[in-house]
Order: sequence, then C-alpha cells, then structure tokens
Amino acid sequence: MKYTRTLIFALLVILVAACTERKATTVGSDPEVEKRIGELISRMTLSEKIGQMNQVSAGGDISNYADALRRGQIGSILNEVDPVKINEFQRICVEESRLGIPLLVARDVIHGFHTIFPIPLGLAATFDPELVSEGARIASLEATAQGIRWTFSPMLDIARDPRWGRIAEGSGEDTWLDARMAEAMVRGYQGETLDTTSMAACIKHFVGYGAAEGGRDYNSTFLTERQLRNVYLPPFEAAVKAGAMTLMTSFNDNDGVPSTGNTFILKDILRGEWGFDGLVVTDWNSMGEMIPHGFGTDRKDVAEKAVKAGVDMDMMTFGFISHLEELVAAGSVKESVIDEAVRNILRIKFLLGLFEHPYVDVERGEAVQYAEAHLEAARRSAEESAILLRNDGILPLDPGRIRTILVTGPMADAPHDQLGTWSFDGQKAHTVTPLQALRERFPGKVVYVPGLAYSREKRERFDDVVATARRADVVLAFLGEEAILSGEAHSLADLNLIGSQSALLAALRSAGKPVVATVMAGRPLTIERDLPNCNAVLYSFHPGTMGGPALANLISGDVNPSGKCPVTFLRTVGQAPMYYSHNMTGRPYNGEKLLSEIEAEAGQTSLGNTSYYLDYGACPLFPFGYGLSYTTFSYSDIRLDSQSYPVDGTVNISFKLSNTGDREGTEVVQVYVRDVVGSVTRPVKELKAFERVTLKAGESRTLQLKVAVAELAFWGLDGVKKVEPGDFQLWVAGDSASGEPVAFKVK
Ligand code: BGC
Repeated sequence: MKYTRTLIFALLVILVAACTERKATTVGSDPEVEKRIGELISRMTLSEKIGQMNQVSAGGDISNYADALRRGQIGSILNEVDPVKINEFQRICVEESRLGIPLLVARDVIHGFHTIFPIPLGLAATFDPELVSEGARIASLEATAQGIRWTFSPMLDIARDPRWGRIAEGSGEDTWLDARMAEAMVRGYQGETLDTTSMAACIKHFVGYGAAEGGRDYNSTFLTERQLRNVYLPPFEAAVKAGAMTLMTSFNDNDGVPSTGNTFILKDILRGEWGFDGLVVTDWNSMGEMIPHGFGTDRKDVAEKAVKAGVDMDMMTFGFISHLEELVAAGSVKESVIDEAVRNILRIKFLLGLFEHPYVDVERGEAVQYAEAHLEAARRSAEESAILLRNDGILPLDPGRIRTILVTGPMADAPHDQLGTWSFDGQKAHTVTPLQALRERFPGKVVYVPGLAYSREKRERFDDVVATARRADVVLAFLGEEAILSGEAHSLADLNLIGSQSALLAALRSAGKPVVATVMAGRPLTIERDLPNCNAVLYSFHPGTMGGPALANLISGDVNPSGKCPVTFLRTVGQAPMYYSHNMTGRPYNGEKLLSEIEAEAGQTSLGNTSYYLDYGACPLFPFGYGLSYTTFSYSDIRLDSQSYPVDGTVNISFKLSNTGDREGTEVVQVYVRDVVGSVTRPVKELKAFERVTLKAGESRTLQLKVAVAELAFWGLDGVKKVEPGDFQLWVAGDSASGEPVAFKVK
C-alpha cells in the first residue's frame, strides 16, 4: 500500500514536471494548454477575441492605453522597455480586465538587448551556431529581465544583393548557413525549456523579402515557387522544426501577391505542410500597406483578406480592431476563423507562462544588464565575426617593433555606429570603441587623428593626418558606414566607401607607412579600388558593444581571425546580384579576357561567348566562405566511404587538415555539393556542412564530416521534393571557390 502510494506520487511528480517543463520544440502539443485555451475562448466575447488580435506600439503615456487594456482591446504591445510601465500594463490587464488575460510584450531585440552583439550578418560570418545561440540566450536574459517576452528575430531573409540595406539583419546569401543560424537563434531566445527567461522567437519576414528587385527595400519580388522552396523557405522550415513560436509576414508582394494576404504561403505551406501552430503577426502596418499595393480597396477589405489568409495578429494597421466585428456580423468572416487566430495567440501566452508569471521582477533587471559574461560573449562573437580579407604580413602588429600607431578614420571612435542597425537599447556609454581598446592594449603608443569626422564628410586634403602618418610606424584606419546607412529602408545604389574615405586611404598611403584598414559596415561594400592602398584589411561589419576590444585583440594577434564571408563580396555594384550557388548556365565562364586585357582591334565583332561581364568578368572580389588567418591551412586525402549511396544513405567524408603556419588558428571547413544533372538545372555548388576546427601550429588532423543524402533533395520538375539519383561532386575546402571535386553517385 505504502509502495503504491509512493509510486502514484512519483507518477504525479513526473506528470506535473512534464506539464510545466515544456520543450521549446512542441509549440502546440500540450493537451493541458489546449484545454485551457478552449475554456478561455468559450468565455470570451467576440470583441475580446478581436482585442487579442490587436498589437499596438506603446512607448508613451500609460493612460493612452489603460482604457483599451481594461476593455481587453489590446493583445500585445511593442516598444515599451520600462519594466515599471510594463508591470503596470500587465496589472491593468490581469487585475482590471474582465478575463485577466496578460499582455504579450514585444521588442525588436535583434542582435542583443543592452549588450549588443555583431549585426546578424557579422554573426553569420562566425559560422559558429553555438556561439550565436549563446548570444541569443544572453539577449533573452537581458530583455526578459525587463519584461520583454517576444522578440522580432531572427530575420531569415536570404539576401543576395548588398544594395538592400537589410542584408545587415540576416545571415547573408546562403540557405544552409541561414537555416543553421535560424535554429541556433530560436534555441537561444526560447531556451531549452520555456520559462520566465524565454522570449518567443519571431521568424521573419515571410517570405522572399530579401529578393527585392534592384535591392530597393519594400520592392516587389518575383520568386518562382521552385526558388521559394529550394532557396528561401528552408530556413523558415528549419526554424519551425526548431520550435519557433511566432512568424511575421513580409512587406513585399511576390509575383503580385502581398505576403500579408497570401494564403498559399501562410496556410498551404506554413500551417498545412509544416504544421505550424504558432502565432502569425503582420509586419508594421503591412496589412494597411496592401491598400497602396493595390491589393485591397480600404482597411476593411485588407483586414478581411489578411485574416482569411491566416494572419492572427495585426501590428499597427488597426484593421482587425476596427473592422473584424462588422465583417463577422455581415457573415464575410466566420467566427471560427477568429477563434483559430485567438487560439494561436493564447497558446503562446500560456506556453510562455504569462498567466502564472505576468510580472517582471524589477530588481532582477538591473543586475543582469551588461553582465561580465555577456560582454565576454559579445567580445568573442565580434572576434569570430571579423574577416581577414587581405594581409601582406603586417598583421598581427609586432609590438616590439612598433612605437607609434596612428589611429584614424570615422569609425575609430563612433560608439553608436559600431552597434549597427536595430540596436535601440544598446547604450553608447557601455560601448568600447577601437580607439579606447587600442589605447589600452598599446599604452602610450596611440596617436589619434580622426581624418574624417563621419563617413559622408567630403574633404580633399588630409595634411594633418598624413603628417602624423609619416611619424607613425603603422596606420590603423577605421572606415565603413555608420549604422544609419544600412538596415530597414536604407538601400544604396553605390557601394563604394562613402564620402572621402577612399581619398583618405590614398592620402595615408602616400605617407609611405603600412596601412591596415578595418571596415565596419552593414553590408559587403565594394572595396576593390581601396585594396592597393592597404597592407591588410579586416572586415568586421558592425561589431557591437565589444567591437573595440575584439578588434584590438585581432590586430595585436592575441586572437587569430577566423571569420568567413557569409556573402559574396562584389568588385563593383553592377555585378549584383552575384552569389556562389547560382545555377549552371549553358555557357559557363571559362576565363576569357576582359575588355581591358584585349588590344583594341578595329572591326572586332565578338569579344567572348560565355556568361561574364566584359569589363568585370565573372568573379567576385572575395567569394562566399572566404577568410584568411594569421596561419595557413591545407586540405589533403579527401575521401568518401563509398562511391555510391542509396537515397537514404549518408556520405561519410574523411580528410586531412593541416595547419601549415606557425601559430594556432581556427579554420571553418566547408563542404559543398553539386548535383551534376537534374530534372531542372541545379546550382554549381551548395554548402551542405561546415565545422570550425582549431589546430596548433604545424598540427595535422584527420577529420570526419557527414552529409545525409536526404540533404541533397530539391523541388524538381514534378514539384516534389526528393533526391534525384545520378552523379554528384563534393568539395571540402576553406571557401566556395577552392578545392578539387570528388565524385560520387546516388542510386
Ligand atoms: C520591420 C520589422 C520589425 C517591425 C517592428 C518593421 O518596420 O520591418 O522587421 O520587426 O517594424 O518594429
């Protein structure tokens, strides 16, 4: 009897633990939660249901919202970060509204909350999902400590055109890399189990937004279903599988259909094929923008279109709150559609534990922000994200031989700008700039002359800087673009260094001293014309709060660079869009000469017959995956465990990686695969695996990597995703343009 009672007790404990410790990967599979949702919905009026579907931007006087909250007319707010105000909003909802449903408080916590990490494009350059996940976890710890439980991140838009300012916010051009970063961020934000330190992730922008024509933000896209499925959708699907709780629709229309009214992507694919039962929110007024798109007549019309397409929550159009009730009354929208949306919203609130823990502990907030461990992780992330693009041996600096270092350039001491786009909550006062960090690392040796006060400044003469450069042993120039030049709505048609920065570099060069350029930017700029003026180039993107110490560590050699290009670096903007995994053409470039290499020939009628630009060829400045180290690596003995695999098999790869230099370093090993013949033309190669490997000076190691054959599946001519048997080639290399292929078959 006693034994039975103990057993029952133990079972109960396990049951309770199972109910409270919900895995982040089970958005809607908890029957207890589903039951609570059902009970709550049965008590809600139509108006209260529609209220849940309404998200408003706060950030102001609480009294503006108190009444609406009390009447249950707001389901979520964004843009309030004061924990005292957030608690007051919650108190009104929980204690003064009829049903006491807590608010979901959202914020764009994109690459850190207070402690700012490198911009997402920089994070992708680390090829280190674990570290990226740690950063997202830290962002969650800091943001939830102030009452924020929902972040509008990660952005999973594949971006292949650096003119698009929002390339800064994503993981770059590659589907595989983007998908790995997506999973990592979802894991980090939401945590292994959902608790009060979890923020619901919001994968955005669904979908195709990064393919804006001409790289101009908000522009139309024309992606075929096959491109969507092979290139743009997989990161979203991976994130859904990783448990992403919410998703945001995008601003763009694809092939004429704005995403916020697109049933095919929101219902057929997201809900139908992937089984997503999280919350779908619009982008800011993207429902309302279907009117200027010419996809709806007025706010009522677009509200109807959006809700029918599968949108659950309206961010800042006020279309649902203003019109859904009348649409239901008129029979145009069924109440069951509203119920479904409310279910999806309440599910997130229950899973996040908001009903049990609506309030934030205001005391906890302060202690968590900018914690030592957070700054440390931000520094490591910035170190791993910097890409060494060029080095004639000047880096790392040899402290013994250097007495005077000239630090110059508009980004050397620009604390706000090194944080990059979407860093609302990162404070200048906590940001360590390269100038500050270099002064500390090289005491008494740094002389600072800004040269240009800001990147866009126009100047013709740089006499003061050049005079100082002559007296220095080395020049460290910090260039690029301020945060304001990338990000949303900040597209550019010219990607050269802006203002007089190239002139500054040329002037510095004339002083005859070695010049090291560090570029902080939100995108890969076209720096080809500047390379002759630099002995070394480090590309750090916008590196965040700890960018200064990270760069000082890299420049001094305390840390060896290991970042790799997450996107193709163009020679000139006219090459855009250029990306490594383009389809095979019928006339691949075969090294023909450029116009500039051909003697002018009178009467010449043809210059070449392959796919290239007569003036700029077919190659980028730096390919995807490229990045140098202070040591060198070589690859050899690349072997596969078979010559042929079944469709459900695994390609086991073994190879030898050697550190052929004289210092320890980390290489990002990359595996690319080409499907030689398909029912449709296939990319020349696609990344299918990567791993960071650290080797001591002179060390060699035999390593193993795997590619599941299933990962080679794609949507072919018959519109079905599958592996098509045939010939394949595989590369193991340090970037997308190196290595020799090994052949295998799939049978
Ligand atoms: C952006 C979103 C962002 C939202 C909320 C929009 O303008 O496109 O990415 O999450 O604003 O701030």
